[in-house]
Amino acid sequence: MEKNICLIGFMGSGKSMIACELGRRLGLEVVAADELIEAKEGRRILDIFKTKGEAYFRDLEQKVIEEISQRRGIIIDCGGGVVLRKENLANLKSNGIVFYLQAAPEVIYERVKHEGHRPLLKGPDPLGCIKELYNQRLPLYNQADFVIDANDASIEGPVAEIIKKYKG
Ligand code: S3P
Repeated sequence: MEKNICLIGFMGSGKSMIACELGRRLGLEVVAADELIEAKEGRRILDIFKTKGEAYFRDLEQKVIEEISQRRGIIIDCGGGVVLRKENLANLKSNGIVFYLQAAPEVIYERVKHEGHRPLLKGPDPLGCIKELYNQRLPLYNQADFVIDANDASIEGPVAEIIKKYKG
């Protein structure tokens, strides 16, 4: 049975765009964990954070990751904080290859600065917040099977590299 392709990385690292292109080229279904969470709850992530808090969101995220990790031959587009619970990486790795899309905090900031849907970046100093979270999470992201450079504006490099590694 085919392995899953699991994409992890900070907000704005290009996971969704890369997942979509991989899906198109490989003919595989893309499953976005955040979309499933929103569908299950019937509201946006911003609202879930606001009304129920981050811990509640992380519980939902863990359940969704556990469920979708049991599938085969799909592309899993994970939320940026998926690495915060070690169970998630273990579940993703059980049937999949985990790719960390690495992009520098400054690159991420430029990509996300005009977007307003991410609860964790809504404070007065988003770049400072990105740097802090990035440094906290880096050792966790580095537990991926492969680290992919996603700093370039074009997704072609990361897409080609992931396909090469997946087809091994
Ligand atoms: C989060 C990233 C978001 C989303 C939620 C929390 C995080 O997903 O899951 O806002 O903790 O980094 P994206 O990485 O797709 O923006």
